Amino acid sequence: MSGPGGGEAAARPGRPAYALGSSPAEAGRLRRQSAELAGHSATLLDRAGLSPGQAAADLGCGPSGILSLLAGRVGPAGRVTGLEINPASVALAREFAAEHGLVNVEVVQGDARTEIGVEATADIYPPGHPRRTIRMDLVRSMRPRILERGLAGERELEELDRAAREHLDDPETLVLPHLLFLTWGRQPLA
Ligand SMILES: C[S@@+](CC[C@H](N)C(=O)[O-])C[C@H]1O[C@@H](n2cnc3c(N)ncnc32)[C@H](O)[C@@H]1O
Repeated sequence: MSGPGGGEAAARPGRPAYALGSSPAEAGRLRRQSAELAGHSATLLDRAGLSPGQAAADLGCGPSGILSLLAGRVGPAGRVTGLEINPASVALAREFAAEHGLVNVEVVQGDARTEIGVEATADIYPPGHPRRTIRMDLVRSMRPRILERGLAGERELEELDRAAREHLDDPETLVLPHLLFLTWGRQPLA
């Protein structure tokens, strides 16, 4: 994966970008799924505040994606770019746009990883690391609410806090608290 603004695609040689492929069966499934999930997609676009005249992109649009919904939102004065890596899906998405009269939609073949990136990081907090006790620190911050809601009593919380911190004092205890996802994007799509 390229770094922010890096630009080079991170496709691994020999590894397809989309594991489910582009068979007619998968294309049909994706088209059905777009229709089945249209309500949720519409809600999302309402929240995003997409409005007439704006430019929108559907990255990995597959054979239809949300091209129609985006086109409806941005209207004739706006434009929609569908970016799709698979040539068969690109052809299907273009057909879809033509069949539905989506004149403000252009479908481009390309790799979205040149526009956006996602990097997952799994940190480990060794003894002495300031974030090793993050979970207990969070519970301490939530203490008033925990007590207020009667989820635990003061003594119980103190005992749990002490036991958890003692467990973390053991250098054999491995602390891997969460996965951190770094995401970034850049313009333009071209
Ligand atoms: C699960 S399908 C979803 C298709 C569409 N967004 C939908 O909701 O119906 C994922 C699509 O993303 C495309 N894709 C995967 N990796 C991609 C990449 N790096 N750049 C562009 N398209 C990609 C695949 O070819 C596939 O068509």
